[in-house]
Amino acid sequence: MTTIAFFDTKTYDRDYFVRAPGSDRVKWQFHEFRLSSETAASAAGAQAVCVFVNDRLDAACLQRLKESGVRLVALRCAGFNNVDLAAARALGVAVTRVPAYSPHAVAEHTLALLLALNRKIHRAYNRVREHNFSLSGLVGFDLFGKTVGVVGTGKIGKIAAGIFRGFGTEVLAYDPYPSPEWAAAAGVRYTDLDTLLAASHIVSLHLPLTPQSRYLVDAAAFARMRPGAYLINTSRGKLVDTTALIEALKTGRIGGVALDVYDEEEGIFFEDHSGEILQDDELSRLLTYPNVLITAHQAFLTEEALSEIARVTTANLAALGEGRPYLPDSVLVDASASGPG
Ligand code: NAI
Repeated sequence: MTTIAFFDTKTYDRDYFVRAPGSDRVKWQFHEFRLSSETAASAAGAQAVCVFVNDRLDAACLQRLKESGVRLVALRCAGFNNVDLAAARALGVAVTRVPAYSPHAVAEHTLALLLALNRKIHRAYNRVREHNFSLSGLVGFDLFGKTVGVVGTGKIGKIAAGIFRGFGTEVLAYDPYPSPEWAAAAGVRYTDLDTLLAASHIVSLHLPLTPQSRYLVDAAAFARMRPGAYLINTSRGKLVDTTALIEALKTGRIGGVALDVYDEEEGIFFEDHSGEILQDDELSRLLTYPNVLITAHQAFLTEEALSEIARVTTANLAALGEGRPYLPDSVLVDASASGPG
C-alpha cells in the first residue's frame, strides 16, 4: 500500500481526504508542519508527498525526497509556483495538481465580500452583538444600476460576471484573451483596462499572477479609478501594490477594499496568530480601517471544492501504487516520460 506523507495538514484537509474515493487504498501520514528541505527527512518510508501552497519544494527538498524513495508530489491546489518543476523533471519525480476545483466557490466569495463591505455587515454584526442598534455610518448603495469591472474572464471571472449581472449591474470586462460569444450571451461588454478602471463603481480581479500582472493595481491605476470605487481581490495578493492601496484609502481616492489575498500573506494566512504581535505593518494598518474587509484566503473553502480537491488528489495518489496513469489534466511533470527513473 502506498504511504503518503501529508504536509501542512488542517482538520478540514484530513476530514475530506479520509472520506475521498480510493482513500482506503493508501496509507496516510498526516503532519501539521510544512514540507521544506529541513523537514523532508520526515517523508522517509513514503512513496508520495501531498502538499499545499506554503510547502516549499526547491531543488534541495526534491533531492532529499528522491533519495528517500518519493516518486510523486501531489499538490492539493491549482498553483505550483512553490515547486521547482525543472528539478523534479531532472530527478524523475512526478508532480500533479488540481487544475480546477470550484470556480463557483471563489466567485461566490467575491460577492460575499462585496455585499458585506458595501452594506457594512462586518460593522453591523459587531455593533448588534454589543446591543448597539444605531445605524450611523452604515449607509451603503444599491448595486442595481452600477457598473462592475471584471478583470480576467476565465472560469471564475465569467461566473462572477454572471452573478453581478443578476444584481442588475452593467458589467465591463478586460482580458487579453476575450471570449466574445460568452460576453454577447451574458450581456457583458469588453473594454480596455483604463476605460474599465475609470467607469467602474466596483473593480473585481480574476486574473492570475504573472510577471506582467504583478502590481497591476498600482498608484497609477488607483489614480485612474472612479473616485469612491470599491476594489475586490480574490485572486492573488501581488496583483495589488499595498503601499499604493493604503495611500488610496487614506486620501479617500477609493471607497473601500475587500481582500481574500494579500501581498505578504505567506507565513500569516492559514494560521492562528491571535496571541502574537503582528509584525506586518501594512497589514496591521489595513486592519484598522473601517472600509477594509479581509479574509485569509478562504474563497476556495466550500464543501464542494474540498471534496473535488480530495477526489482528484487521492485518485492520483492511488494510481501511483496501482501503476495506473495519473488524471491527464492534473499532470505537471510526468516522471515516466522524463528524467532518470
Ligand atoms: P483562468 O485561467 O480560468 O482565468 C484567468 C483569466 O485571466 C484568463 O481568461 C486569462 O486570459 C486572464 N488574464 C491573464 N492575464 C491577464 C491580464 N493581465 N489582465 C486581464 N486578464 C488576464 O483562472 P481562474 O480559475 O478563473 O482563476 C483566476 C484566479 O483566481 C487564479 O489565477 C487564482 O489566482 C485565483 N484563485 C483564488 C482562489 C482563492 O481561494 N482565493 C482559489 C482559486 C483561484
